[in-house]
Amino acid sequence: MPCAAGGRERRREYDTAMNHPGAEAQIELSGGEPGGRLTIAQDHVLRRLAAWPWREVRALLESSFAPAGPADLIPWLEVEADEDWVVLRHPRVPVISYPHEWCAEMLQQAALAHCRLLAALAGQGMALKDAHPWNVLFDGTRAIFIDIGSIVPLSTLAELDYLTRAQGRSGTALAGEVFRLMFLPYFVLPLAFHQAGLGHVARDMLWRYPLNGAGRHPRVTDYLRAARPRQWGRALRGLRRARRAAADFRRLCAELERSGALDAFASGLAALVGDLSPPRAESAYSGYYAAKGEEHAHDRPETWNAKQRAVANALDNREIRTVLDIACNTGWYSRLAAQLGKQVTAIDIDDACIAELYRRAGAAGEAIVPLVLDLAQPTPDRQRAQDGGLLLIGSERRLQADLVLALGILHHLVLGAGISLAEALARLAAPARLSLVIEFVGADDELVMKEPQFFKAFSRNPAGFAGFTLTAARDALAAMGWQVSVVSSFPATRSLLACNRKPTQPNSSLT
Ligand SMILES: C[S@@+](CC[C@H](N)C(=O)[O-])C[C@H]1O[C@@H](n2cnc3c(N)ncnc32)[C@H](O)[C@@H]1O
Repeated sequence: MPCAAGGRERRREYDTAMNHPGAEAQIELSGGEPGGRLTIAQDHVLRRLAAWPWREVRALLESSFAPAGPADLIPWLEVEADEDWVVLRHPRVPVISYPHEWCAEMLQQAALAHCRLLAALAGQGMALKDAHPWNVLFDGTRAIFIDIGSIVPLSTLAELDYLTRAQGRSGTALAGEVFRLMFLPYFVLPLAFHQAGLGHVARDMLWRYPLNGAGRHPRVTDYLRAARPRQWGRALRGLRRARRAAADFRRLCAELERSGALDAFASGLAALVGDLSPPRAESAYSGYYAAKGEEHAHDRPETWNAKQRAVANALDNREIRTVLDIACNTGWYSRLAAQLGKQVTAIDIDDACIAELYRRAGAAGEAIVPLVLDLAQPTPDRQRAQDGGLLLIGSERRLQADLVLALGILHHLVLGAGISLAEALARLAAPARLSLVIEFVGADDELVMKEPQFFKAFSRNPAGFAGFTLTAARDALAAMGWQVSVVSSFPATRSLLACNRKPTQPNSSLT
């Protein structure tokens, strides 16, 4: 839609705001509205929406809910408007995360946030035109519905091109059809396979087939093909679970068509999602802190070991507001950082550990976003299938922090995955803005010797790792521009490389 003359000036102001230096990325709205735009800046997000039907939605939201809108919905402020467009300003949810990085509990919470929002909107003659996990971000452990443009009056659903095959049906039936098209493949199906113990396959499907990023939705057959032969039993369980959930879903849709009761549909859907709760899983790494005798109470520093004291020391800096805990395990250090007031992103390849951290941080109300991520395989940017616009931001660009903790991981990358020392250090240091703590565990460490199955590259060719030394690591970090001090870790045979950015040299030509 072209901008009318009066709007052109405001559009320019908006474009200037969109391009301000804090802006980190510009992505098209996932709903794919022509002209819709989303800009993520340092502390806020600007979202441009078509003025209609937003004005009608706004009036309903303002008259029916508390000023912040329904719980779970991102707060908004209208900062620009003309006859064609409005610009909403939202507070920025600090961490951008995607469904392929969530544990099952997070996907389930994101689904339940949709059900609660639909129930709240139902009585107001409104519904959702999108119902998929990319509508949600996590603020700490709380799911927040961010795509406010998904809220539309029921009467407008009939105009959506993806609902043309359902033309002639009532507005409430179309609201159910939206959930059939999106909620079923992107929430119900992956939750069923998570429940069957194939969480890694579910996450992989959400990565391979993101909405608007692939030509089609993921199918049950994709899940079956992705399972390895020894996982076929679990895959069949997932298939049965998915079929049962789909049958329950069809019953809810039939009931909706008959009664038109959207709120009952929403609560039936919430019960269906509740039935897809994942089992509590354990992995070889779940008991890491207990086995190492490190499960000291966070509020009893007198019991802490040298590693815990050194990390607390690094966190004791007011300039450090955000922390990325790489290879966080069940998150002893993430929780310490959160309790010291930091905003934490915690990543680990082990989904049982991440799920445990999500539960613990949620129960304690700690500002931690735990994500399942393989450091050896960072995810790249993803483009929209339709027009090539940026759809998902790559993990390296997205997960930056003032302080990076990389404890007990360097030796896994080098001695285990066979990544060179220089490359592994560069990867660990890249997200750090101000400070970095890397633990060095040598090839002669007792655990490395006792558990060769974790250190395959080293076991294959021990002689190839002669250069893997504390001195080499320290020198490489210094050459990358860090001021490095070496302090004792726990056990004392291990060391911590505590790094701060070197102060920038004053420009001599200006002095
Ligand atoms: C030795 S534990 C260290 C835990 C914690 N950082 C600490 O020092 O207390 C190593 C952790 O690294 C994780 N890990 C190993 N390889 C990884 C990878 N490629 N990406 C992310 N995490 C990894 C394991 O799952 C495990 O939780």
